Amino acid sequence: MSQARIISVLNQKGGVGKTTLTTNLSHGLAIKGFNVLAVDLDPQAQLTASLGILSDSDKVLEKSLLDDVPLSSVTLPAREKLNIVPSSHGLSALEKLSSNGASSGFLLKNKLDHEIKKYDFILIDCPPSSGLLVLNAILSSKEIITPMTGDYLGLQGLAYLMRTMKRFEKILEKELSQWVVLSRFQTRRRLSQEVKTRLKEYFPDKILKTDISESVLLAECPGFGKTVFEYRPTSKSADEYRSLVDDFLLERTHHD
Ligand SMILES: Nc1ncnc2c1ncn2[C@@H]1O[C@H](COP(=O)(O)OP(=O)(O)OP(=O)(O)O)[C@@H](O)[C@H]1O
Ligand SMILES: [Mg+2]
Repeated sequence: MSQARIISVLNQKGGVGKTTLTTNLSHGLAIKGFNVLAVDLDPQAQLTASLGILSDSDKVLEKSLLDDVPLSSVTLPAREKLNIVPSSHGLSALEKLSSNGASSGFLLKNKLDHEIKKYDFILIDCPPSSGLLVLNAILSSKEIITPMTGDYLGLQGLAYLMRTMKRFEKILEKELSQWVVLSRFQTRRRLSQEVKTRLKEYFPDKILKTDISESVLLAECPGFGKTVFEYRPTSKSADEYRSLVDDFLLERTHHD
């Protein structure tokens, strides 16, 4: 029996498209026939809302992590072949746990170990921070996917993130595969093109081939609890996401 690829969708910067990417990549993979689990690791619970899930207070991630209930009992079906572990604002209690017990970083990993054989992919939507929740995500994952917008502060943030990951790799004695997606990309903006050129220079084998353009459609989807494949399946945004799913599966980058 194969094991799931576990991927954290991570960028400490807010509003860069992490939740949008988690939502549509998860559904895109499920549409392709893979078994997918999406984990909402953000107390803002925006992945939960984006997939249109109304969870009762018992079926949330924090219940499993803090009250020691199996993850499977707080998992809900979201779409065909796509399950979700929802969260709510109560998850922020985990951020406040003292991190002196080394084990608090492994709470999520210990739970996911029991799920790993049930899925092909497990995607974790991280909050825009660098605290204990994000540490739990990194310690659970073998891969990191980072959406970033085409501006200089985004580039600077990415360089910082890459350095942090290198340090993690040393401590953990494991290699993390890192992927970058240009999200909310504005093709006609000169700055966006410049940032893309720099990125291709610095990390040629890490940037997935397809850019996700800025599009109001993608901002409308969460309000309906729909993925782009449901809301506007024939749109350019849906095409971009379909192509990105293939990039991800084939590990197709700007290097190729
Ligand atoms: N390509 C896009 N075009 C237009 N709007 C987008 C795009 N991607 C995301 N958005 C919108 O931008 C906002 C931020 O996106 P999203 O919630 O995915 O970012 P995030 O990185 O998860 O944010 P946070 O750090 O707060 O968790 C949302 O309103 C979302 O609908
Ligand atoms: Mg988010």
